[in-house]
Amino acid sequence: MTLQPLLKAEPETRSIFVHTFGCQMNEYDSLRVVRLLAPLGYRSTTDISEADVVFINTCSVREKAEQKVYSFLGRLKPLKQRRPHMKIIIAGCVAQQLGEKLLARFEYVDLVLGTRAVSSITGLLEHAIETGARLVHLPEIDPGDELEFHCGLNGVQTHVVAPVTIMQGCDNFCSYCIVPFVRGRERSRPADAIIREISLLVESGAREVLLLGQNVNSYGRGLETDISFVGLLRRIQDETDLARLRFTTSHPKDLTDELIRCFAELPCLCAHLHLPVQAGSDEILRRMNRGYSRSRYLERIDRLREICPDIGLSSDVMVGFPGESEEQFQDTMNLLKTVQFDSLFSFKYSDRPDTRASRFPDKVPEDVKARRLTELQNLQAEITLRKNLDEIGRIRDVLVEGTSKASKEQSTGRTQQNRVVNFDNPDVPAGRIVRLRITAAFAHSLLGEAI
Ligand code: SAH
Ligand code: SF4
Ligand code: F3S
Repeated sequence: MTLQPLLKAEPETRSIFVHTFGCQMNEYDSLRVVRLLAPLGYRSTTDISEADVVFINTCSVREKAEQKVYSFLGRLKPLKQRRPHMKIIIAGCVAQQLGEKLLARFEYVDLVLGTRAVSSITGLLEHAIETGARLVHLPEIDPGDELEFHCGLNGVQTHVVAPVTIMQGCDNFCSYCIVPFVRGRERSRPADAIIREISLLVESGAREVLLLGQNVNSYGRGLETDISFVGLLRRIQDETDLARLRFTTSHPKDLTDELIRCFAELPCLCAHLHLPVQAGSDEILRRMNRGYSRSRYLERIDRLREICPDIGLSSDVMVGFPGESEEQFQDTMNLLKTVQFDSLFSFKYSDRPDTRASRFPDKVPEDVKARRLTELQNLQAEITLRKNLDEIGRIRDVLVEGTSKASKEQSTGRTQQNRVVNFDNPDVPAGRIVRLRITAAFAHSLLGEAI
């Protein structure tokens, strides 16, 4: 009797179009979806009009972010009319916030997945395809394997810089923030699962990993094995072959001296920290429930620069928090002048459902918020440009990420400090670290030459 090899039928190729709004944790979840669906034959497409599945990962952190989601969804209606078999999935924070209401408002949406439902996507999508049912799935807690989760890369291409979520949710309840309501309680992912995933990413070409969480400094709380965030960083340094490591977001109230010392002690840790300050006035910080004062924040910045003089610093700030006076706004402006961040994300405060600040009195009028934001962004643009100009003449190691978007004749990459550098040589393979002299500086990037 001859044994016939078992021929497994290749799944039929289908295509998935993914669009991600919001933070890097959403980017990571979208990547997981692509990896989870790859074994069913789904391949990513950038052409939405040929997609069999459209996956939209949504953000609800500011009113404007939520509005963007609705206008995107509105544009899908004619597409679904032309391709009735196409399945439309809405996931992420707006999905979590609105659930059933999204199905009611957008009659062509097939699946609404909450922030803890990503790992259930395969079964739910197949069910929707087989039965034509429209479903909402908003689990309160992850299925057991959500945080352990290690679906493998499943042939999906790894980029030079890879995100890895190490914790989900947030317990801080800053008074303006919707995240604790839509992402749930803080949960850390076991260190072994993180190390396994990083090792796999490195094997498949990643050189830099960005560890993600809303407050990475408190990593480890509630895990069976006792480990701190610093412990995790040390394990990554010791047990993987990663060239570069970054993390985001750090909360200033939990930034310990021990963590700051890692910038001097761990060779793989990039000299860059994103440390959102939000405001420069003590009274506003108190009403934001941030848990630190202006002077404590400035002291942390001094300590960072003492341990790592070359560190690149970025931050988030908000203007027009309820009750913010002109003087309190100027406190934020002064803080920016004092710290001299390398780059900054700045926002107009907007009310979010369920948050305490949405019930605070003395809302700042829209035109005042807009004026303050412009003033603040103009100031930061000057600081960023000046700091970029200071780079001219310096020697920087740049991790090459690929060909520059601006010119096919150039490669592009980032310094440890997270500055984008372009240089004339399109043939350097992505993933290589090259040493460059900085020769010119612009608002958002630098130019370098090989030495
Ligand atoms: N966990 C991170 C950031 C999460 S949200 C942290 O603790 O800093 C990203 C940024 O969005 C915040 O830093 C804040 O600046 C901004 N943001 C959050 N809620 C907002 C709101 N209601 N209005 C305007 N900006 C907001
Ligand atoms: Fe929101 Fe504050 Fe948590 Fe950041 S730390 S996610 S701003 S509640
Ligand atoms: Fe937005 Fe949700 Fe991230 S609200 S910022 S996508 S956690």
